[in-house]
Amino acid sequence: MAARLLLLVVILCSAVIIASSTSQNKNKNNSLPLPVPDGPDPCAGRRIHIRRLPASFNTHLLLYCATAFPLADPDSKSVPACTSLANHGLGPRTHNGTRSWYRTDARLLEPFFHRRLLEHDCLAARPAQADAVFLPYYAALDALPYVLHPDLLNSSALHGLPLARFLARHQPRVLARRHGHDHFFLLAGTAWDYSQPHDADPRWYGTTSLLRLPELANFTVLTLESRAWPWQEHAIPHPTSFHPSSLPRLRSWIARARRSRRTALMLYAGGVSRPSRLNIRGAILAECANRTSAVCTVVDCSAAACGLNPVAYMRPMLNANFCLQPPGDSPSRRSTFDAIVAGCIPVFFEHAAARMHYGWHLPRGRYDQFSVTIPKESVVMGDVRIADVLAAVPEDKVARMRERVLEMAPRVVYRRHGSAADLREATKDAVDLAVEGVLRRIRRRVSALESGHPDAIYELQDDDDDSDGRT
Ligand SMILES: *[C@@H]1O[C@H](CO)[C@@H](O)[C@H](O)[C@H]1NC(C)=O
Ligand SMILES: *[C@@H]1O[C@H](CO)[C@@H](O)[C@H](O)[C@H]1NC(C)=O
Ligand SMILES: *[C@@H]1O[C@H](CO)[C@@H](O)[C@H](O)[C@H]1NC(C)=O
Ligand SMILES: *[C@@H]1O[C@H](CO)[C@@H](O)[C@H](O)[C@H]1NC(C)=O
Ligand SMILES: *[C@@H]1O[C@H](CO)[C@@H](O)[C@H](O)[C@H]1NC(C)=O
Repeated sequence: MAARLLLLVVILCSAVIIASSTSQNKNKNNSLPLPVPDGPDPCAGRRIHIRRLPASFNTHLLLYCATAFPLADPDSKSVPACTSLANHGLGPRTHNGTRSWYRTDARLLEPFFHRRLLEHDCLAARPAQADAVFLPYYAALDALPYVLHPDLLNSSALHGLPLARFLARHQPRVLARRHGHDHFFLLAGTAWDYSQPHDADPRWYGTTSLLRLPELANFTVLTLESRAWPWQEHAIPHPTSFHPSSLPRLRSWIARARRSRRTALMLYAGGVSRPSRLNIRGAILAECANRTSAVCTVVDCSAAACGLNPVAYMRPMLNANFCLQPPGDSPSRRSTFDAIVAGCIPVFFEHAAARMHYGWHLPRGRYDQFSVTIPKESVVMGDVRIADVLAAVPEDKVARMRERVLEMAPRVVYRRHGSAADLREATKDAVDLAVEGVLRRIRRRVSALESGHPDAIYELQDDDDDSDGRT
């Protein structure tokens, strides 16, 4: 059994490596934008060089799936399961008949994103030609020993240092050229978990200082949630379980979500343990406990029950008009994206909740068209019943909002790698928008650097522009 597991891992690792080495040097024939003689260069400002890193920074880290860390809690699934590595990190399909639904573990977004970048239409073989440099570093996987091995808990300030040293020593010109401002990588976690001060004593267990490492401070890091002043990072959507590979598959799902009979007013999917009336989660549970399931459906996602089992919440979400998104732990944030894919109108309880984070994918200016915000104070104090507010929204307005939600859905979906051209051409998915956003931000920084205004680099200028991004 163990031997088979190891074999599986080795096969998966080599699949990524082979994919890297073949597509790094030549673009895929089917996606190479053909240069039009005398026309504009379709790759202008969009060339990405994928830095070659030793396997210890990426594919070897996938082996942690088979590692028993002393502090790993098997119930909370501290380490991604080896089966989740299937399909370049999308995980295994939910059942044999499906082509679009996977048991996706968000922590494996790092290898998946790497795989998808290999399909970028403007890869540059040499860094000197590139507008941006992608580091295929599996940062969250690399953090596991620091948070799960007792001998390393006090060393968590070292997370990322080997990478910084590698970049400083090998072809140092690549990093030095723009002081790292053109570099980016993905960190499949929340920025807070990686921004512990270096000198914190005692160390706060469960977190590292990766984002505080001075050597990496100029890089742009894609995270699943950002901090209040996200000049280093930018948040991208949590992956859902839906990864269509062609336009008809995307369209037929959206049509199903549009047609779905919504018998429940509202739904809450998340932890149900130890509810306290004094916070918004407790207030929601208290209100739902009093209501019939036609008013409020509760999907118990305690103990990671939902994570890899989309059937548990996608069906109920298809049957609800509104999906409640209390602020809090990451599962609830993921649930925002599940709700959008299901056409269930998200209900936020603080203005900052999602609006702050996902501007590249969910334009801030459109929140009021596709979501409802009910200030949490009024709910917790008992002044407002959520069901009363939502039941008062007129039916035609609900229908309009649902349309807006379904317009957002393709933007938060991570389409499958190797998808059909029709899908790639018709929509921009979560990866496309992340790459556009990164390139926009890097262009802004590099031009500030080159025009001699390095101060402007650190301005929190709103780069959440949802325009095409090409210059
Ligand atoms: C590349 O694409 C062109 C035009 O679509 C086609 O004629 C050619 O056969 C393709 N080459 C390969 C190697 O697939
Ligand atoms: C899916 O198909 C495989 C191979 O045909 C089979 O071994 C497996 O039992 C099937 N799984 C389910 C859930 O039907
Ligand atoms: C970690 O540091 C704390 C104090 O900063 C100390 O009490 C503890 O023994 C250290 N743990 C290890 C494993 O070295
Ligand atoms: C970060 O960028 C600033 C401004 O361009 C530069 O002065 C500094 O040396 C850079 N830091 C690193 C570690 O490269
Ligand atoms: C639940 O119902 C009881 C009895 O009708 C009522 O006293 C209580 O205030 C209700 N609680 C909530 C949170 O609506």
